[in-house]
Amino acid sequence: MDALSNLHQRVSIAALEAPGPTSQQLDNMYRAALRAPDHGAIQPWRFLNIAGDARQKLGELYLRAMATDQELSPEQQTKFRNMPLRAPLIIVAIASTKDHPKVPRSEQVIAASCAVQNMLLAAHAQGLGAIWRTGELAYHPVVMDGLGLQEGEEIVGYLYVGTPMRQRTAPQPEIDKFVSDWG
Ligand SMILES: Cc1cc2nc3c(=O)[nH]c(=O)nc-3n(C[C@H](O)[C@H](O)[C@H](O)COP(=O)(O)O)c2cc1C
Repeated sequence: MDALSNLHQRVSIAALEAPGPTSQQLDNMYRAALRAPDHGAIQPWRFLNIAGDARQKLGELYLRAMATDQELSPEQQTKFRNMPLRAPLIIVAIASTKDHPKVPRSEQVIAASCAVQNMLLAAHAQGLGAIWRTGELAYHPVVMDGLGLQEGEEIVGYLYVGTPMRQRTAPQPEIDKFVSDWG
């Protein structure tokens, strides 16, 4: 697939199954991630691969986090426990921000987010399916602690990656709605 077609046709795929990416495909995704624009060359990111049984551990962590805030019904418990089983691989993308005299932390989070988008594109280019998810479990202190986040770090997304169970077609872009000339 040529680069522009990949950009124009990328879609998120929520319905994913095994197999996950090969080590070569994953390497390509990370090489793309690490080419994200990065003001100050801070490299304000790190990533966790969660696959196989580690996904069950993540489900238990989700459950523990949600159970600290509320009484959970058995259905809710199953839901949180099973969330990470929706793909063979989950990549936790972490913005790992540092004090910098010229680059505010917000820009570093943007750079880490660009890395995630690069990974989505690299996944799509290789015929993989992927979706960027967040939600309350990306911001919960129990989850952040359980995943080992340190001061200055935040989760910018969970990237679910696998084999698409169904294909989707990208919607037509509405360029005129969002673009105008100025001056
Ligand atoms: C920061 C961020 C967080 C997101 N969180 C979720 C999420 O938790 N659940 C979800 O279904 N989609 C989430 N999305 C949206 C999907 O990743 C996806 O973009 C959306 O379903 C539209 O599909 P498309 O990428 O094919 O246009 C998020 C997107 C971004 C950029």
